[in-house]
Amino acid sequence: MSTHENTASASTGAAAAAQKAKAPGDPVGIAILGHGTVGREVLRLMEQHRDALEHRIGGPIEVRGVAVSDKEKHRGAVPEELLTDDAMTLVQREDIDLVVEVIGGIDYPRRLLLAALNAGKSVVTANKALVAAHADELAAAADAANVDLYFEAAVAAAIPVVGMLRRSLAGDQIESVSGIVNGTTNFILDAMDSTGASYDDMLKEAMDLGYAEADPTADVEGHDAASKAAILASLAFHTRVNYDDVHCEGISSITAEDIAAAKLAGQTIKLLAICERFRDEDGKEYVSARVHPTLISREHPLASVDKSYNAVFVEAEAAGRLMFYGNGAGGDPTASAVLGDIVGAARNKVHGGRAPGENTYANLPVADFGRVPTRYHIDMEVVDRVGVLAELSTFFAQRGISLKTVRQEELNGHARLILVTHTAREEDLASCVEDLKTSESVRAVKSVLRLYSEENSQAES
Ligand code: HSE
Repeated sequence: MSTHENTASASTGAAAAAQKAKAPGDPVGIAILGHGTVGREVLRLMEQHRDALEHRIGGPIEVRGVAVSDKEKHRGAVPEELLTDDAMTLVQREDIDLVVEVIGGIDYPRRLLLAALNAGKSVVTANKALVAAHADELAAAADAANVDLYFEAAVAAAIPVVGMLRRSLAGDQIESVSGIVNGTTNFILDAMDSTGASYDDMLKEAMDLGYAEADPTADVEGHDAASKAAILASLAFHTRVNYDDVHCEGISSITAEDIAAAKLAGQTIKLLAICERFRDEDGKEYVSARVHPTLISREHPLASVDKSYNAVFVEAEAAGRLMFYGNGAGGDPTASAVLGDIVGAARNKVHGGRAPGENTYANLPVADFGRVPTRYHIDMEVVDRVGVLAELSTFFAQRGISLKTVRQEELNGHARLILVTHTAREEDLASCVEDLKTSESVRAVKSVLRLYSEENSQAES
């Protein structure tokens, strides 16, 4: 069980005085760190819609620097007087009010953004890995300097999930947030589902079409989704959840047979980020965040999210069920989210005050994955003889795990047995599977998949 020290005093902003308004007509000076796919779009859209943006902000804005690692590569695309390769100096310059980070990576942008915040600049970042790993430190620096830290683009680009959790649902009790927050893996799983093809073939197609990176590890092993899960869980449960708290499994072991078995059961397989609040048998409240391939009923709205689209499904006490859907990546959608944050942060520079910061007052314990309630779908080949079903079901009964459905089919002189459990502790389910693997009655455990289940959430129990 990991708990985090209560950092609420550093992250509520309660003690912070309001940010002072700029003098009327004095432009908000903006530094942009990075001029890749997103940085270029941010600059282009800011130029194209400057007049409208300034009306929405209530005052003028001015881009005063664009930091890149290699100036030669960007000459001509950025006005010469703005181009610099000295980002550290730029973020601390007196004429800069707002720093926009679209570089990626962790250590270097962390140093830059801490320097910017410590120098009293507001920060807008699209960097999920940085926020998921160092939110405490960044939020504390923003509080200490009475400035803003915005990161809408860090989760699912322009789909407004960060603002929804921070502001729109701030008055509600959120029970769970489940999402398809990685487009590459959704593309691969959807293509496997619709064509019956193998993981390797569909990964290759995703690479050929430019969805997957040359090194697809962060996407296919779930790391990208785990960063987003940490951010969503922190905001939803007012509790710091870091990247390292998120249990993470990717999709590289999913086979065409898994997909076919899912279809047979009226399900599909999605890589879900699942953030939940739950009570253990002791009645104590915990939160958890996890990313793994998940069987989900084809009737659930998340199951119909195809291609590289993202969607986030929220269950809240008063609001009920909500789903947010759209493009979760790409230059334009990410730039849209960054620009929304720029408008928010610049408004606060013009008019004074700060946006609501992160608030980790609830400080709930983050449950170890073994304690989390899950459900299993187990597909195996067993010996076809009297008493096998009774023997195997004792593994579950001994641990107090109830089976929901048992299906048996004849299979070349053996039997195929598909068991679906009710909700139980993850560690108990996993140890049942270990017992099944060593039983002489079991020829092979073909696949073990967790089921998306509303049984898990408090809202349903
Ligand atoms: N690589 C991510 C995806 C987008 O495939 O969704 C950036 O987080």
